[in-house]
Amino acid sequence: MADWAATEGLTIAIDGPSGSGKGTVAKMLADEVGLPVLDTGLLYRLTGSVALKRGVSLQSESDVAALVDCLLDEINWTVDGIFLAGENVTAGLRSEQVGAAASQVAAMPSVREKLLGLQHKLAEKGCIMDGRDIGTVVLPGAPAKFFLTASVRERARRRWVQLKDDSDSSLEGVLEELKVRDQRDAERQHAPLKQADDAITIDSTTLRVDEVVDRMLGVLERRKLIARSA
Ligand code: DC
Repeated sequence: MADWAATEGLTIAIDGPSGSGKGTVAKMLADEVGLPVLDTGLLYRLTGSVALKRGVSLQSESDVAALVDCLLDEINWTVDGIFLAGENVTAGLRSEQVGAAASQVAAMPSVREKLLGLQHKLAEKGCIMDGRDIGTVVLPGAPAKFFLTASVRERARRRWVQLKDDSDSSLEGVLEELKVRDQRDAERQHAPLKQADDAITIDSTTLRVDEVVDRMLGVLERRKLIARSA
């Protein structure tokens, strides 16, 4: 059983750049407070990946938007990952190539708009949602918002360690990719990576995951959004 009980329907937004540790932190926090965790990056990664596979041009917003219309009928997005036609395809979405395609489709306003309804629907019963625009666009009313950061070099190192077994990319290569992605995510016109005014920033460069989670638990307890389980 989780150590903490969350108030009914609690939503927690965790935003931040690639490699800031959002996913790992969100999972550990979810275990502590007993909420499901939803990784919104998977929606963009799946769209980018299927576009690459089906030869849909990443330059054409209308073609990618039409692809999303089809995908919305085929996908099942759950706490266990994302399923396409019944198959869990999450593991295949982690590559840098898919990440770069995801970042391109994520810059398309109509694509984001189409994926918004799904995110609202899944958040209804309470969850921890991680992404780039959760606190600003998807769940602006969330009673707890965190913005996780870390230095670009540390984030690249973490990504590189994650990717090492599946690719031969160098640390410098991952660093350069990350800088390009950071810039695209932060500078796009629509729903850029941006901290919500009421979000709490946590710099995880020198913190362990459990230290980040402890800080979050402290905030949630002070706001009476969680209480120790009986
Ligand atoms: O978090 P990630 O690396 O899985 O995200 C993949 C891409 O999707 C990333 O370039 C940013 C984009 N993204 C976004 O624009 N909005 C979100 N809520 C989540 C991800």
